[in-house]
Amino acid sequence: MKGLIPDQITKEVQYSCHLVVFTGAGVSAESGIPTFREAQTGLWERFDPEELASPAAFRRDPALVWGWYEWRRMQVQKARPNPAHLAIVELAQRVPKLTVITQNVDDLHERAGSAEVIHLHGSLHEPRCFACGRAYAGVVTDLKDQPSSERLEPPRCARCNGRVRPGVVWFGEYLPQQAMRSALDAARHCDCLLSIGTSGVVMPAARIPEVALENGAAVVHVNVQPVEVSGPGEYSLVGRAGELLPALLQQAFPTS
Ligand code: OAD
Repeated sequence: MKGLIPDQITKEVQYSCHLVVFTGAGVSAESGIPTFREAQTGLWERFDPEELASPAAFRRDPALVWGWYEWRRMQVQKARPNPAHLAIVELAQRVPKLTVITQNVDDLHERAGSAEVIHLHGSLHEPRCFACGRAYAGVVTDLKDQPSSERLEPPRCARCNGRVRPGVVWFGEYLPQQAMRSALDAARHCDCLLSIGTSGVVMPAARIPEVALENGAAVVHVNVQPVEVSGPGEYSLVGRAGELLPALLQQAFPTS
Protein backbone atom coordinates (compact mmCIF):
# COMPACT_ATOMS: atom_id res chain seq x y z
CA MET A 1 0.00 0.00 0.00
CA LYS A 2 2.93 2.35 0.68
CA GLY A 3 3.08 5.27 -1.71
CA LEU A 4 -0.56 5.17 -2.87
CA ILE A 5 -1.27 8.50 -1.16
CA PRO A 6 0.89 11.60 -1.84
CA ASP A 7 2.86 12.71 1.24
CA GLN A 8 1.21 16.13 1.38
CA ILE A 9 -2.23 14.54 1.78
CA THR A 10 -0.96 12.05 4.33
CA LYS A 11 0.45 14.93 6.40
CA GLU A 12 -2.79 16.92 6.24
CA VAL A 13 -4.59 13.97 7.83
CA GLN A 14 -1.80 13.02 10.23
CA TYR A 15 -1.62 16.53 11.75
CA SER A 16 -5.32 17.33 11.60
CA CYS A 17 -6.92 18.45 14.89
CA HIS A 18 -10.46 18.43 13.51
CA LEU A 19 -11.04 16.18 10.52
CA VAL A 20 -14.38 16.28 8.70
CA VAL A 21 -15.42 13.32 6.59
CA PHE A 22 -18.12 14.33 4.10
CA THR A 23 -19.60 11.40 2.20
CA GLY A 24 -21.88 10.70 -0.74
CA ALA A 25 -23.27 7.63 -2.42
CA GLY A 26 -19.81 6.55 -3.65
CA VAL A 27 -18.74 5.58 -0.12
CA SER A 28 -21.49 2.94 -0.06
CA ALA A 29 -21.02 1.80 -3.67
CA GLU A 30 -18.62 -0.98 -2.68
CA SER A 31 -21.26 -2.25 -0.23
CA GLY A 32 -23.51 -2.80 -3.24
CA ILE A 33 -25.72 0.28 -2.82
CA PRO A 34 -26.25 2.02 -6.17
CA THR A 35 -25.18 5.65 -6.59
CA PHE A 36 -27.44 8.24 -8.25
CA ARG A 37 -25.74 9.73 -11.27
CA GLU A 38 -23.37 7.15 -12.70
CA ALA A 39 -24.10 6.08 -16.26
CA GLN A 40 -26.18 2.89 -16.44
CA THR A 41 -26.03 1.97 -12.76
CA GLY A 42 -27.10 5.28 -11.16
CA LEU A 43 -30.58 5.35 -9.61
CA TRP A 44 -31.50 8.59 -11.43
CA GLU A 45 -30.41 6.97 -14.71
CA ARG A 46 -32.92 4.17 -14.24
CA PHE A 47 -35.72 5.85 -12.28
CA ASP A 48 -37.40 9.21 -12.63
CA PRO A 49 -36.90 11.37 -9.51
CA GLU A 50 -40.02 13.35 -10.43
CA GLU A 51 -42.08 10.20 -10.00
CA LEU A 52 -40.38 9.07 -6.80
CA ALA A 53 -38.63 11.77 -4.84
CA SER A 54 -40.86 14.75 -4.16
CA PRO A 55 -43.88 15.57 -1.96
CA ALA A 56 -45.95 15.91 -5.17
CA ALA A 57 -44.94 12.39 -6.24
CA PHE A 58 -45.99 10.98 -2.87
CA ARG A 59 -49.34 12.78 -3.03
CA ARG A 60 -49.90 11.48 -6.55
CA ASP A 61 -48.98 7.84 -5.93
CA PRO A 62 -48.03 7.01 -2.33
CA ALA A 63 -47.88 3.23 -2.94
CA LEU A 64 -45.39 3.63 -5.81
CA VAL A 65 -43.14 5.90 -3.75
CA TRP A 66 -43.37 3.87 -0.52
CA GLY A 67 -42.70 0.61 -2.40
CA TRP A 68 -39.60 2.07 -4.08
CA TYR A 69 -38.14 3.36 -0.81
CA GLU A 70 -38.86 0.03 0.89
CA TRP A 71 -36.94 -1.64 -1.95
CA ARG A 72 -34.03 0.70 -1.22
CA ARG A 73 -34.29 0.06 2.52
CA MET A 74 -34.19 -3.68 1.81
CA GLN A 75 -30.99 -3.24 -0.23
CA VAL A 76 -29.38 -1.33 2.64
CA GLN A 77 -30.51 -3.91 5.18
CA LYS A 78 -28.77 -6.64 3.18
CA ALA A 79 -25.58 -4.59 2.70
CA ARG A 80 -22.58 -4.49 5.02
CA PRO A 81 -20.19 -1.61 5.76
CA ASN A 82 -17.13 -1.73 3.50
CA PRO A 83 -13.43 -0.95 4.21
CA ALA A 84 -14.03 2.78 3.60
CA HIS A 85 -16.68 2.98 6.36
CA LEU A 86 -14.38 0.99 8.66
CA ALA A 87 -11.32 3.15 7.93
CA ILE A 88 -13.34 6.25 8.89
CA VAL A 89 -14.10 4.66 12.27
CA GLU A 90 -10.37 3.96 12.75
CA LEU A 91 -9.45 7.52 11.75
CA ALA A 92 -11.77 8.82 14.47
CA GLN A 93 -9.61 7.01 17.01
CA ARG A 94 -6.38 8.58 15.72
CA VAL A 95 -7.25 12.28 15.36
CA PRO A 96 -8.34 14.58 18.22
CA LYS A 97 -11.75 15.25 16.63
CA LEU A 98 -13.58 13.77 13.66
CA THR A 99 -17.04 14.69 12.37
CA VAL A 100 -18.90 12.52 9.86
CA ILE A 101 -21.34 14.38 7.60
CA THR A 102 -23.20 12.27 5.07
CA GLN A 103 -25.65 12.86 2.25
CA ASN A 104 -26.49 9.16 2.39
CA VAL A 105 -29.78 7.88 3.73
CA ASP A 106 -28.33 4.47 4.64
CA ASP A 107 -27.00 3.57 8.09
CA LEU A 108 -23.69 2.02 7.03
CA HIS A 109 -21.54 4.59 8.86
CA GLU A 110 -23.39 3.85 12.09
CA ARG A 111 -23.21 0.08 11.56
CA ALA A 112 -19.47 0.38 10.95
CA GLY A 113 -19.19 2.12 14.35
CA SER A 114 -19.20 5.86 13.60
CA ALA A 115 -20.92 7.86 16.33
CA GLU A 116 -23.08 10.96 15.88
CA VAL A 117 -23.30 10.92 12.09
CA ILE A 118 -24.84 14.09 10.64
CA HIS A 119 -27.41 13.06 8.01
CA LEU A 120 -28.05 16.00 5.69
CA HIS A 121 -30.60 14.13 3.56
CA GLY A 122 -32.42 12.24 6.30
CA SER A 123 -32.58 8.50 6.73
CA LEU A 124 -34.40 5.53 5.22
CA HIS A 125 -34.76 4.25 8.76
CA GLU A 126 -36.74 7.13 10.25
CA PRO A 127 -40.14 7.25 8.53
CA ARG A 128 -42.67 9.76 9.76
CA CYS A 129 -46.24 10.84 9.14
CA PHE A 130 -46.71 12.85 5.93
CA ALA A 131 -49.55 14.76 7.60
CA CYS A 132 -48.51 15.48 11.19
CA GLY A 133 -44.78 14.67 11.13
CA ARG A 134 -44.89 12.18 14.02
CA ALA A 135 -42.13 9.54 13.92
CA TYR A 136 -43.45 6.13 12.90
CA ALA A 137 -42.47 3.36 15.28
CA GLY A 138 -43.77 0.29 13.45
CA VAL A 139 -40.83 -0.19 11.09
CA VAL A 140 -40.57 -3.71 9.67
CA THR A 141 -37.08 -5.09 10.28
CA ASP A 142 -37.15 -8.30 8.23
CA LEU A 143 -38.12 -6.91 4.85
CA LYS A 144 -39.07 -9.40 2.18
CA ASP A 145 -37.27 -9.55 -1.13
CA GLN A 146 -39.29 -7.19 -3.24
CA PRO A 147 -38.72 -5.78 -6.72
CA SER A 148 -38.14 -2.05 -7.17
CA SER A 149 -41.46 -1.60 -8.94
CA GLU A 150 -43.68 -3.30 -6.36
CA ARG A 151 -46.30 -0.92 -5.08
CA LEU A 152 -46.80 -0.98 -1.34
CA GLU A 153 -49.48 0.91 0.52
CA PRO A 154 -47.71 3.01 3.20
CA PRO A 155 -48.67 2.35 6.81
CA ARG A 156 -50.87 4.81 8.67
CA CYS A 157 -49.96 7.12 11.53
CA ALA A 158 -51.22 5.92 14.93
CA ARG A 159 -52.13 9.48 15.93
CA CYS A 160 -53.81 11.06 12.90
CA ASN A 161 -54.19 8.18 10.44
CA GLY A 162 -52.11 10.09 7.88
CA ARG A 163 -49.89 8.19 5.47
CA VAL A 164 -46.37 7.40 6.64
CA ARG A 165 -43.59 8.71 4.35
CA PRO A 166 -39.87 7.86 4.12
CA GLY A 167 -37.70 9.99 6.41
CA VAL A 168 -35.54 11.26 3.55
CA VAL A 169 -35.22 14.74 2.09
CA TRP A 170 -37.01 15.02 -1.23
CA PHE A 171 -36.47 17.48 -4.08
CA GLY A 172 -38.03 20.81 -3.17
CA GLU A 173 -37.71 20.21 0.58
CA TYR A 174 -35.49 21.94 3.11
CA LEU A 175 -32.62 20.07 4.70
CA PRO A 176 -33.02 19.31 8.43
CA GLN A 177 -32.02 22.62 10.03
CA GLN A 178 -30.04 21.30 12.97
CA ALA A 179 -28.08 18.90 10.74
CA MET A 180 -27.19 21.68 8.27
CA ARG A 181 -26.20 24.01 11.11
CA SER A 182 -23.93 21.38 12.68
CA ALA A 183 -22.43 20.52 9.29
CA LEU A 184 -21.66 24.16 8.46
CA ASP A 185 -20.18 24.67 11.90
CA ALA A 186 -17.87 21.67 11.46
CA ALA A 187 -16.91 22.80 7.93
CA ARG A 188 -16.02 26.27 9.21
CA HIS A 189 -13.88 25.03 12.08
CA CYS A 190 -12.12 21.94 10.72
CA ASP A 191 -8.57 21.98 9.41
CA CYS A 192 -8.98 19.11 6.93
CA LEU A 193 -12.01 17.73 5.09
CA LEU A 194 -12.20 14.49 3.14
CA SER A 195 -14.96 14.61 0.52
CA ILE A 196 -15.62 11.00 -0.39
CA GLY A 197 -17.69 9.59 -3.25
CA THR A 198 -19.89 12.54 -4.11
CA SER A 199 -20.59 14.26 -7.41
CA GLY A 200 -20.90 17.53 -5.44
CA VAL A 201 -23.79 18.81 -7.50
CA VAL A 202 -26.69 18.82 -5.03
CA MET A 203 -27.08 22.07 -3.14
CA PRO A 204 -26.87 23.09 -0.38
CA ALA A 205 -24.94 19.97 0.76
CA ALA A 206 -22.32 20.56 -1.93
CA ARG A 207 -21.39 23.81 -0.16
CA ILE A 208 -19.82 21.92 2.76
CA PRO A 209 -16.39 21.26 1.16
CA GLU A 210 -16.39 24.79 -0.31
CA VAL A 211 -17.02 26.29 3.12
CA ALA A 212 -14.14 24.28 4.58
CA LEU A 213 -11.84 25.45 1.80
CA GLU A 214 -12.93 29.10 2.20
CA ASN A 215 -12.10 28.85 5.88
CA GLY A 216 -8.57 27.62 5.28
CA ALA A 217 -8.97 23.84 5.62
CA ALA A 218 -7.31 21.37 3.28
CA VAL A 219 -9.89 19.53 1.17
CA VAL A 220 -9.17 16.08 -0.25
CA HIS A 221 -11.60 14.61 -2.79
CA VAL A 222 -11.66 10.81 -2.95
CA ASN A 223 -13.48 9.66 -6.06
CA VAL A 224 -13.21 7.12 -8.87
CA GLN A 225 -13.41 10.13 -11.21
CA PRO A 226 -10.85 12.97 -11.08
CA VAL A 227 -12.28 16.04 -9.33
CA GLU A 228 -11.21 19.46 -10.57
CA VAL A 229 -9.36 21.38 -7.87
CA SER A 230 -9.20 25.14 -7.59
CA GLY A 231 -5.78 25.75 -6.06
CA PRO A 232 -3.38 24.93 -3.24
CA GLY A 233 -4.98 23.17 -0.30
CA GLU A 234 -7.38 21.19 -2.50
CA TYR A 235 -6.45 17.71 -3.70
CA SER A 236 -7.99 14.96 -5.83
CA LEU A 237 -7.29 11.32 -5.02
CA VAL A 238 -8.55 9.09 -7.82
CA GLY A 239 -9.65 5.56 -6.95
CA ARG A 240 -12.09 3.49 -4.95
CA ALA A 241 -12.88 4.72 -1.46
CA GLY A 242 -12.63 1.15 -0.13
CA GLU A 243 -8.98 1.04 -1.22
CA LEU A 244 -7.85 4.63 -0.74
CA LEU A 245 -9.25 5.18 2.76
CA PRO A 246 -7.51 2.14 4.32
CA ALA A 247 -4.30 3.19 2.48
CA LEU A 248 -4.59 6.74 3.81
CA LEU A 249 -5.18 5.42 7.33
CA GLN A 250 -2.18 3.12 7.13
CA GLN A 251 0.13 5.81 5.72
CA ALA A 252 -0.95 8.51 8.17
CA PHE A 253 -1.01 6.24 11.22
CA PRO A 254 1.14 3.16 10.46
CA THR A 255 0.45 0.21 12.74
CA SER A 256 3.51 -1.81 11.77
P1 OAD B 1 -23.87 10.71 -6.98
O1 OAD B 1 -24.43 9.45 -7.56
O2 OAD B 1 -24.30 12.00 -7.59
O3 OAD B 1 -22.29 10.65 -7.03
C1 OAD B 1 -21.58 9.53 -6.57
C2 OAD B 1 -20.11 9.82 -6.74
O4 OAD B 1 -19.38 8.73 -6.20
C3 OAD B 1 -19.66 9.97 -8.21
O5 OAD B 1 -18.87 11.15 -8.32
C4 OAD B 1 -18.81 8.72 -8.47
O6 OAD B 1 -17.75 8.98 -9.36
C5 OAD B 1 -18.31 8.41 -7.07
N1 OAD B 1 -18.00 6.98 -6.79
C6 OAD B 1 -18.65 5.87 -7.22
N2 OAD B 1 -18.12 4.75 -6.71
C7 OAD B 1 -17.09 5.15 -5.92
C8 OAD B 1 -16.15 4.45 -5.11
N3 OAD B 1 -16.15 3.13 -4.99
N4 OAD B 1 -15.21 5.19 -4.46
C9 OAD B 1 -15.19 6.55 -4.58
N5 OAD B 1 -16.06 7.26 -5.32
C10 OAD B 1 -17.01 6.58 -5.98
O7 OAD B 1 -24.19 10.66 -5.41
P2 OAD B 1 -24.19 11.86 -4.35
O8 OAD B 1 -23.12 12.85 -4.66
O9 OAD B 1 -24.21 11.24 -3.01
O10 OAD B 1 -30.11 13.28 -2.62
O11 OAD B 1 -25.59 12.52 -4.66
C11 OAD B 1 -26.01 13.61 -3.87
C12 OAD B 1 -27.51 13.52 -3.64
O12 OAD B 1 -28.18 13.39 -4.91
C13 OAD B 1 -27.97 12.30 -2.87
O13 OAD B 1 -27.83 12.44 -1.48
C14 OAD B 1 -29.41 12.20 -3.26
C15 OAD B 1 -29.30 12.45 -4.74
O14 OAD B 1 -30.43 13.00 -5.36
C16 OAD B 1 -31.33 13.07 -2.11
O15 OAD B 1 -31.87 12.00 -2.17
C17 OAD B 1 -31.92 14.28 -1.47
